[in-house]
Amino acid sequence: MIETFLMERMQSTYENFVDFDLSESGVRPVTLREMVSFGFDLDALMDAPLGYSQSNGTIELRERVSAMYPGATINHVEVTNGTSEANYILALTLLRAGDVVALQVPNYLQLWGVPRSLGATVERFELARADDSWEVDWAAFERAVAPKTRFVYITNPNNPTGAVLSRKAMQRIVERVEQMGAYLIADEVYQGAELEGERTPSFWGMSDRVIVTSGLSKAYGIPGVRIGWMVGPPEIIASCWTQHDYITICPNKISDHIARVAVSPEVRTQLYARTRAVLRENLPTLEAWAAGMGDFFDFTPPTAGAIAFLKYNADAASIPLAERILQEQSTLIVPGLHFGLESYMRVWLGSKPEYLRAGLARLRAGLAPLVGAGV
Ligand SMILES: Cc1ncc(COP(=O)(O)O)c(C=O)c1O
Repeated sequence: MIETFLMERMQSTYENFVDFDLSESGVRPVTLREMVSFGFDLDALMDAPLGYSQSNGTIELRERVSAMYPGATINHVEVTNGTSEANYILALTLLRAGDVVALQVPNYLQLWGVPRSLGATVERFELARADDSWEVDWAAFERAVAPKTRFVYITNPNNPTGAVLSRKAMQRIVERVEQMGAYLIADEVYQGAELEGERTPSFWGMSDRVIVTSGLSKAYGIPGVRIGWMVGPPEIIASCWTQHDYITICPNKISDHIARVAVSPEVRTQLYARTRAVLRENLPTLEAWAAGMGDFFDFTPPTAGAIAFLKYNADAASIPLAERILQEQSTLIVPGLHFGLESYMRVWLGSKPEYLRAGLARLRAGLAPLVGAGV
């Protein structure tokens, strides 16, 4: 038995039917035509036989992915159907009943449900809000990461907060993982979606206990082709390939072609720039909107990711609140509890500006009874 993945289920049930879907987390997707403008050869694809693709990813794609991770070879890389398949396969490969997983919270809760379905226990440790950032609660971290811990799962940049760990925090996490003989699964799918400054550093290369997962869904704006990957020690990657053979056999062949272009250095740079431009245009709209509601919201803007995680000051549970807004305003947001944290909501920042403005107007109307007079 596996419990329902509440966030994904709420999104997949409603996202295609609401007037305003503010539940997304990647930048608005690129079109195939845009990919052609970035150099994707659609005509050549017309003649490619639609057979099975190489099951762990074509050599060309794995070469391009491994080039992003210094010291990695194609044997350190497995291409998967999205980052989510990489995470799932890692859990299947690494976990046995009785194992313990340490999970950073708030987080994308895939590796809450999957380990529990395999008979593992999940210990949480919190990211706590401190002034203008989110920081690891180290006492909770040290309690959660103990000798029985098989792996630690971290999302950096984090979903839903959009926060990025400091180098010092990364180092401390890796040291503890090594001391406990665990692995670190670092989900870096939001890397490259920074609003300003440098690209978030990768955990890759900090230890041979590190496994990175990532993919095209967020910073690249290409979720629909379903390409992700994992990068890790070759023996772990080889075991994951065995699982992959049983599950989906291989990534989609057309997607592998598109991904080869997307991850090439020139195109990747342009896709990141596109993402940054969208997020920088939209964040001030969201900030002004939130400020317009006085002290109802309290939030730290994201460092990366098309997401704003807002704490609201009202005595209202987040899931019923999101459900009411869905029903009354045909507008979908993600309740904080779907990431493990109550009294928050996550709002999408990656849409066209006019869509964001109209969606926020609906959200404000839905929140009016809580905010009080003047809204
Ligand atoms: C942290 C994290 N990992 C993985 C995924 C799923 O990514 P993909 O679409 O590449 O499977 C998401 C999607 O929201 C996510 O937030």
